[in-house]
Amino acid sequence: MTAQELRTMYLNFFRERGHREIPSASLLPENDPTVLFTTAGMHPLVPYLLGEKHPLGRRLTDVQKCVRTCDIDEVGDDVHLIFFEMMGNWSLGDYSKEESVSMSFEFLTQCLHIPPERLAVTVFAGDAGMPRDQETERLWKSHGLTNEQIFPYGREENWWGPVGHTGPCGPDTEIFYDCGKPKCSESCGPACHCGKYVEIWNNVFLQFNQEEDGRFTELKQKNVDTGMGLERVLTILNGKTNVYETELFWPLMERLEALSESRGKHIPQRDRRIIAEHVRAVTFILGDPKRIAPSNTEQGYILRRLIRRVIRLFQKAGIESDCLCSLSDIIIGQYRDVYPELGENRDFILEELRKEHALFSRTLEEGLRKANRYLDSLGAGSPGEDSLRAGSPGENSLMAGSPGEDSLAADPAGGRIGTMLSGELAFKLYDTYGFPIEFTAELARERGFSVDEEGFRQKFEEHQEKSRKASAGKFAGGLAEHSAETARLHTATHLLGAALRKVLGEEVAQRGSNITAQRLRFDFSYARKVTKEELARVEAIVNQAISRKIDVVLEEISPQEAWRTGAVGVFSEKYGDLVKVYAIPGYSREICGGPHAGNTGELGRFRILKEEASSAGVRRIKAVLEPDGG
Ligand code: SER
Repeated sequence: MTAQELRTMYLNFFRERGHREIPSASLLPENDPTVLFTTAGMHPLVPYLLGEKHPLGRRLTDVQKCVRTCDIDEVGDDVHLIFFEMMGNWSLGDYSKEESVSMSFEFLTQCLHIPPERLAVTVFAGDAGMPRDQETERLWKSHGLTNEQIFPYGREENWWGPVGHTGPCGPDTEIFYDCGKPKCSESCGPACHCGKYVEIWNNVFLQFNQEEDGRFTELKQKNVDTGMGLERVLTILNGKTNVYETELFWPLMERLEALSESRGKHIPQRDRRIIAEHVRAVTFILGDPKRIAPSNTEQGYILRRLIRRVIRLFQKAGIESDCLCSLSDIIIGQYRDVYPELGENRDFILEELRKEHALFSRTLEEGLRKANRYLDSLGAGSPGEDSLRAGSPGENSLMAGSPGEDSLAADPAGGRIGTMLSGELAFKLYDTYGFPIEFTAELARERGFSVDEEGFRQKFEEHQEKSRKASAGKFAGGLAEHSAETARLHTATHLLGAALRKVLGEEVAQRGSNITAQRLRFDFSYARKVTKEELARVEAIVNQAISRKIDVVLEEISPQEAWRTGAVGVFSEKYGDLVKVYAIPGYSREICGGPHAGNTGELGRFRILKEEASSAGVRRIKAVLEPDGG
């Protein structure tokens, strides 16, 4: 079965059962400051899971592009990916567990012809605060699954969400494919990582909202949210043992093989897989209509780390990494029919890869120079003038570590332990110049030194712990950040966009928006700096709309009607049959999921804090709403 056949089969199955198809949303969540990437099909649906009415109804299905960086250490094994496609179906207060389980079972066994005995499922075992999910257990049994195929687990395994501190959550039932290998131990089950069980689908019963104080309140509508991993299912259906053997990766894997052969080099299998996975992931991130480029912050930084990891792996194998663009082009060619944005943004993708390659190659050389000097000084006595103290990472800082942090400022003399390069120094080389430990060890060995690899690992783990905490912080606040403040700022964003078009011209188009409870940030296309006078006029227009106390009107109309009536559409997303248009009569009409303030009079006073360049041809405005008269 091909990937496209699988996508079509999934969507058709759920269409035939009353679901409406929605397009894959951007990989970069709109108006959601709590996550860097769309990590599941449910992200773009959070307002609807919380009760907003979806224009296409209560049964939805899609194939969503997702990025999950939490699995980065697992990439290179048989099944874990950073970028993947998630096929999903949703009930927004419509069907519940019975129909969900029954449709999943039917799709797996009747359409995909997976023998029922090859399935294993998990159900929520219950705990002090929540009862066991006996209903789901009973439903699986009614489809013939035996006790040996049903595994009850606690909250750790069988409770999904919220993504942050607050938001929709509930018990889930995960569906696994049993590869048929013998159990690795008495207690072997889906929670075990021996490879016997591969998770393919997760049905979440989003019945609760976790509140700020940790309490669970019943959602006013009971939802079902499911997600199935396309790459994994394709692997299983085609009798492969890992995702890299499927058509989705095989062309890249073959090219890598040919490349190393032609240069008489060897890239170890795990590295080959990581290269292939990351090339695909960065191609999709760069190819997103929101056009994120490598940088030292947020999504741009993740992108940079992935690209540099690939370059480093090539360097490790002794292969020049200028092949990066041609590898990315294979992915573009392979996916552009399904994700046209890759074709549309091809020039941007390849140009950014070229630039990042050029930038990193320079840094690598610089790092090598510094490392060698340090090794010189290690042999000669004290570190020289131009020790590792030199060189501020700034734009060139790599990989792990907070961007821009001058990690080399610490005393490099700590790097000397007899003829052993200290773990701390090895970590600094990794952190600042992106040198993997084996690279540093090799350099040192050539010079007759050894490296304290254990010390390196300790530093590395300490650092990872810090990053984990930082990224947990990033998720704090929850997906469900749909407070009255964000709704008001969202309405202010629409007014701002309209005012900018009025003052600067119709060519102003939104390129990004990020709203927290405190402020809005709005990126738009414009070639030059906006003058103070122009900003003052923009502010005045927004404040005039506020003072007029205009009702914000929601219309659900066809995209054609929206277009005809002059609504502004954000980015190049495809829409369904009906779209939501939020209108602020006399000022703005915009296709948008909401939520918004009910009346502009609720907004208070609008003030622009800052206008600056965001990237080439894109400007950024930060603004706040202040209490009226404040
Ligand atoms: N949201 C659930 C998951 O990510 C089901 O899609 O697993």
